[in-house]
Amino acid sequence: MSHKRIGFATRLGAIAATVGSAVGLGNIWRFPYEAGQNGGGAFLLVYVLCVLLLGIPVMLSEFIIGRSTHQNMKGALQTLVPGKKVYRLAYICITGALVTLGFYFVVCGWVLQYLCHAVTGEFSGQTSQEYGLLFTRLIESPWAMLLWTWLFMAVNFVVMLQGVQKGIERIAAIMMPMLFVLLAVLCANSLLLPGAHKGLQFLFNIDFSHLGWHGVVDAFGQAFMSLSLGMACMVTYASYFNDETSLSRDAFTVAGLDSLVAIMAGVMIFPAVFSFGMQPEAGPKLVFEILPAVFQQMTGGYIWAILFFLLLLFASLTSTISLSEIAIKFLIEEHNLSRKKAIILTAVFSTILATLCALSFNVLRHWTVYNMNLFDLLNYLASNVFMLLGGLGAALIVGWLIDIKVIQRQLAHKGQRSPRLERYLIVCVRYVAPIAIVLIFLQLTGVI
Ligand code: TRP
Repeated sequence: MSHKRIGFATRLGAIAATVGSAVGLGNIWRFPYEAGQNGGGAFLLVYVLCVLLLGIPVMLSEFIIGRSTHQNMKGALQTLVPGKKVYRLAYICITGALVTLGFYFVVCGWVLQYLCHAVTGEFSGQTSQEYGLLFTRLIESPWAMLLWTWLFMAVNFVVMLQGVQKGIERIAAIMMPMLFVLLAVLCANSLLLPGAHKGLQFLFNIDFSHLGWHGVVDAFGQAFMSLSLGMACMVTYASYFNDETSLSRDAFTVAGLDSLVAIMAGVMIFPAVFSFGMQPEAGPKLVFEILPAVFQQMTGGYIWAILFFLLLLFASLTSTISLSEIAIKFLIEEHNLSRKKAIILTAVFSTILATLCALSFNVLRHWTVYNMNLFDLLNYLASNVFMLLGGLGAALIVGWLIDIKVIQRQLAHKGQRSPRLERYLIVCVRYVAPIAIVLIFLQLTGVI
């Protein structure tokens, strides 16, 4: 590969961009509603176990594949496992990334519309029911859905035309810490609501009766979605890491911060859900119905709402940039397209998918499979099928196919090997992850 690759300028830049990819709507919109639908505490427990036993090892695997080759997924696999068809895994990853973008852009559009509502003061003086209507009105209007989705996509692809470093690094490094502080303020506010303890009980009390196999599958998918795994995204990012940073420290930092943000989102949402007498099982609309009610009762809620949706927008943008970058980098390095052409092609394809998803709540609501509209279907397939498949692939490759010396060298820090870390990774990627993911697939396909 003759393409010149520019590394991240600093370790902080690399971490900020990686956290920027991981922290997004997956944490703040998806985690609360998935936990809400699957019984709260038990879901959280399975989620955390999955992060520790599968998420971090798969992230490390992707880091190893990316940094040892400094190439995109396909090129990296051709270098690491030459002469085999293993590189085809890259196609699954890229398809998965495009599928994810299809529904993810629609949710980004919702955030943009809510930012606009916050600015125009739409949230003040309404009842909980009216907040529900606000959301229903949005998704039932094809033009509103298209307008906001397309607007967000335009911002995303314009930012991308500026290149990885300037675009991603600068946005992520400033906005992520601000979002974190704001979440802490919102958590404190929720904890002071009357009846807040019921929400905490829901989130932290472990009761398996509402979880079931279905919930376990969702917790796995959620962990992969939230950590940006299984789509070669971390391979692409790690290909920009410099050779001195400690991969394990980065993986634990990213996974730790990401999970913390998800749990904080839970602490922000559930006390409010119970305090306002709403339903935790509401599904994808949960956060959009609860948050306006939260801001309405807060002192200075007008400003908090604007700040929150603005920061969430930036968090979403760093995630969509990372998802788009997967396909773009692939087109540039494997098909020799110019960056501009690659961006345009990715934009065209994801616009088609996102448009269909945006319309699946209104004009195309009758297009359903197993009772899911296109949006729900892509949301489900992305995390529970594509990401798990991609993650399984990365785990098997690092566990069984690549030279152990590559793993040792990549995990070493300042020339110092860490046998404990090596053992943890090898056991997880050779045995735990493949067995767990295969069980999930057997369950999904109804075999067990
Ligand atoms: N992790 C992001 C979120 O939680 C979504 C995301 C961004 C993603 N890039 C990814 C998921 C790559 C899988 C792969 O919102």
